[in-house]
Amino acid sequence: MASVQLKNVSRIYGSAKAVDDLSLEIKSGEFVTLLGPSGCGKTTTLRMVAGLEKNTGGRINIGENVVSDADKGYFVPSERRRLGMVFQSYAIWPHMTVFENVAYPLRIRRLPSAGIRERVGRALCLVEMESYAERPSPALSGGQQQRVAIARSLVFEPEVLLLDEPLSNLDARLRIQMGDEFRQLQQRLKITTLYVTHDQSEAMALSDRVVVMQEGKILQAAAPEEIYHRPLNRKVAAFFGSPNLLPAKVKKCVSSDTRFMLSVEGDGWAGDCQAAVARPEGSAVTVIIRPENLRLGEPQEKFRRSEMGRKSGPIYFPRASTFHYSEDLRTVAQHGIPFGGRNSHGQYDQSFRSKVGGVGGRRLIGHATQSARLF
Ligand SMILES: Nc1ncnc2c1ncn2[C@@H]1O[C@H](COP(=O)(O)OP(=O)(O)OP(=O)(O)O)[C@@H](O)[C@H]1O
Ligand SMILES: [Mg+2]
Repeated sequence: MASVQLKNVSRIYGSAKAVDDLSLEIKSGEFVTLLGPSGCGKTTTLRMVAGLEKNTGGRINIGENVVSDADKGYFVPSERRRLGMVFQSYAIWPHMTVFENVAYPLRIRRLPSAGIRERVGRALCLVEMESYAERPSPALSGGQQQRVAIARSLVFEPEVLLLDEPLSNLDARLRIQMGDEFRQLQQRLKITTLYVTHDQSEAMALSDRVVVMQEGKILQAAAPEEIYHRPLNRKVAAFFGSPNLLPAKVKKCVSSDTRFMLSVEGDGWAGDCQAAVARPEGSAVTVIIRPENLRLGEPQEKFRRSEMGRKSGPIYFPRASTFHYSEDLRTVAQHGIPFGGRNSHGQYDQSFRSKVGGVGGRRLIGHATQSARLF
């Protein structure tokens, strides 16, 4: 499979920069997701890789081949890029059977019919739709239609798969199921995938790497865990879930292995956390505590060292009676949901959250895990 490289790629419409000097490499077999608010340039980026849109600046490579170079005025049209594409409206033709829908891209390229039969059969097997080949397309569920669209995108054995919000037309349950199936298929075929969504749970659950975009630029590109626990800045931090961002002052900074252990003090609370860079004593920082890293302790409970874990630092909050943050701090009702996992209702973990209210006499204990990022 091919890698994809975008080097200083821009797309300007009139005076507006839809994509602004964006550089990104998607490794062979990697699943990379572009994530960001509406209008941040995700679709435009995808369409430029697809060759459906010309970049006004920069260069795009697919594998060894340059497919677009704005400076040199060089542009390889979409049909010569060996790409599979699935879009939000997956455009299954209603007047055709499942077989004919998948065969269509091969028919317009006039492949011999024996070859078509074999390839369509293989693509339908991949999405477990082989027994539906003769079914008219309107007689399919949304999820099945989506599988047909995926089969059609795979029928060419593309080197790169581009997907623009392919699950957004499905209901919540199907979205999770199709997302899982899709990820399994992608891993089995090791197909290089660029995926677009504005759904953070989807991005976190499916991707090897998430690229957070805003206003045509990349804010951070990293593995989901990295983005979640070590956001580069406040914008990225706030984009995922509802973290607690607590202002604090550094009391002490000690270097340990590759990181720095900080003792910090906030308004009525104190604790230890880690930072990637040294922060001098007295400097102002912001500590992030994720909701799932908060729990209620018993009134006299001492913080258990065993709870710290290697990557954690404990944060002690005062008794709730004098507690300043009880209205603002968010926590989860239950503890121990694995990252990127599901709760017992099959929902992604971000939705599994409730506020702490009236906790008279009890202590709130927060874990500043690696999310104790300091800005
Ligand atoms: N053909 C066009 N002409 C002018 N402006 C455009 C055109 N296509 C996109 N834009 C603008 O470029 C910006 C990026 O659009 P794009 O479709 O890439 O966003 P997106 O991240 O995919 O958003 P969404 O999540 O809503 O799909 C937007 O401000 C949009 O209005
Ligand atoms: Mg879009």
